[in-house]
Amino acid sequence: MEVKKFTLITGASMGIGKAFAFECASRGMNLLLIALPDDGLEETKKQINLRFSVEIITLAIDLRDHEAVRSLYDYCIQQNLVVNMLINNAGMGAGGKFEEISHEIYTDMLHLNIRALTMLTYHFLPMLKQHAPAFILNMSSMEANFPLPYKSVYTGTKNFVYAFSLALREELSHCNVKVSVLCPGPVLTNSDGLKRINAVGNRAKMIMLMPAEVAKIGVNNLLKGQGIVVPGKINWTIVKLMKLFPTGLKMKLLERLFRVYTDH
Ligand SMILES: NC(=O)c1ccc[n+]([C@@H]2O[C@H](COP(=O)([O-])OP(=O)(O)OC[C@H]3O[C@@H](n4cnc5c(N)ncnc54)[C@H](OP(=O)(O)O)[C@@H]3O)[C@@H](O)[C@H]2O)c1
Repeated sequence: MEVKKFTLITGASMGIGKAFAFECASRGMNLLLIALPDDGLEETKKQINLRFSVEIITLAIDLRDHEAVRSLYDYCIQQNLVVNMLINNAGMGAGGKFEEISHEIYTDMLHLNIRALTMLTYHFLPMLKQHAPAFILNMSSMEANFPLPYKSVYTGTKNFVYAFSLALREELSHCNVKVSVLCPGPVLTNSDGLKRINAVGNRAKMIMLMPAEVAKIGVNNLLKGQGIVVPGKINWTIVKLMKLFPTGLKMKLLERLFRVYTDH
């Protein structure tokens, strides 16, 4: 009997994660969708089911919790759910002067952006290997390529995701589990995001993308086996150009540009 395979997407109730869910459903993939307990997940499921006939399981889990990832893995084993694609999308950020953001926010950010992503990869890897060809897409950010003043911890977490993904990709190159790291610039996901984009001004608007575009580019490149994915031609060019700048000068320019975050 053929086993039913699922794509596990974290943070699937809104924003880019929801767009990933639509993108994967449009390609006939069954979905295991994770987000915090609220109505968003069920709404996403309903909307997808109106357009695509794939199986969708939703689970409300707080991935900041220490035991959450292990419980999610145990649930999959108990229910005989096979995951052959893992999209580690859930993440949170905060902008402002380092010392003015609460330590609770930093703790949540580190737990969600780093620990949950790492442990999901760790627990599901044997299953992915067993059901190869399999895929892992880790959500970093364009900012992983240049540290941003006033978003220092967020940028640090995305740097972790970037480095971890590239290193793991090489380790797994012999076993048909493809790893990609997605590095979007600004994406218009919610009203807070719009405020941040407006604060930085026209430069941010020029490189802004919609969640559906990012999800499509992400999944396309993951399936093609691309390692680093920077959606958008301008964004890709900026990343390349930034590498040519001396670090000191680059950091001074970025500090000027992102000082606006201290007013919001
Ligand atoms: N938006 C951008 O401009 C941008 C740019 C580059 C990279 N990224 C990265 O892309 C990813 C998605 O960003 P987004 O803007 O789409 O985010 P978003 O709109 O804020 O959505 C976040 C998603 O993650 C879920 N989530 C939050 N905390 C969680 C937790 N503790 N446990 C489980 N699920 C949790 C949310 O669930 P609820 O709905 O239940 O709260 C929601 O589904 C993040 O990793 C972000 O860093 C975003």
